[in-house]
Amino acid sequence: MSSEHTDVYANHPDEYYPGIRQRSRPGEAPKEEIYDKTKDAYGNIVTDKPSNRAILSSQRRRLEHESKLKAQQLKKQEQQRRASAKQSSDWTIRNILPILLFLPLLSLFLTQSFSFGLSPYFLPPLRRYWNEFPLNPFKIQLRTFTPQELLMYDGLREDRPVYLAVDGVVFDVSANRRIYGKGGSYNMMAGRDASRAFTTGCFETHLTHDTRGLNDDEQAALTHWKSFFLNHEKYHKIGYVLNPPLTEQDRIPEPCRVAEPESGSQGQHAPGEAAAKRGRHKPGPVQ
Ligand code: HEM
Repeated sequence: MSSEHTDVYANHPDEYYPGIRQRSRPGEAPKEEIYDKTKDAYGNIVTDKPSNRAILSSQRRRLEHESKLKAQQLKKQEQQRRASAKQSSDWTIRNILPILLFLPLLSLFLTQSFSFGLSPYFLPPLRRYWNEFPLNPFKIQLRTFTPQELLMYDGLREDRPVYLAVDGVVFDVSANRRIYGKGGSYNMMAGRDASRAFTTGCFETHLTHDTRGLNDDEQAALTHWKSFFLNHEKYHKIGYVLNPPLTEQDRIPEPCRVAEPESGSQGQHAPGEAAAKRGRHKPGPVQ
């Protein structure tokens, strides 16, 4: 065996390096070894000669070792991150929970309500959202009414709910039959869309959905009443009324004044008057 060309790796069947070959070209010394170029671990072009292979394989092993170390380090960092996140969430539960439990009690002590008296502001929108939420099994199915259908719920029939409409939106106001039912001070508003009367207070001739020609204050009053019914604890939005479209031929109702009750009269009273005498202005006259 010639010692000058002994390749310790090439002798082993597992250590086959492609590209190494021995050849003789014309004019070259026989058995001259020609090696391919290869890249080392850092991208340098080197000759793949046996003396380099040890370096190349040591580079490879070192890189493998480094990447293993890096992976271990990353795993450790991830574990530390999780541990600290858990610790901080534990801290949150330990510290915030007592405060959250204490706040309603403090509120009850200060304001006689569990929410510092703010529930009228956030509960109605939440309730409204929930009532129309698609996944709510008790979701109210909104329906449309013709004016004639709506009239069936004018509060005069005891066996039917009482509905009224404001600005095309129909509300179930059965919870307050005393006001909207038979003999109630606002019964004339039930079973119809009397948006105009809501804005002008003219309960005799403005029981119509015709809101043409209203001034800014009256428009604001309409918005006020609509949100009053939308946000009311006991009333529910149940649908819409298909008000007939208004044409040029339809005349805008004349302005009117709420009739003054005659003294000692047992007859007609202005809406809300009886209750006003009882001292309950709810929601009170629209300014
Ligand atoms: C634009 C004029 C007015 C409109 C549109 C109007 C409308 C209403 C409506 C819709 C209700 C029922 C609220 C509910 O469902 O809880 C109501 C209640 C009441 N209104 Fe009026 N109102 C007007 C003017 C007046 C006036 C001038 C008075 C005072 C004489 C008055 C006194 C009352 C009272 C005391 C209640 C409570 C009734 C009760 O709880 O029994 N309102 N008003």
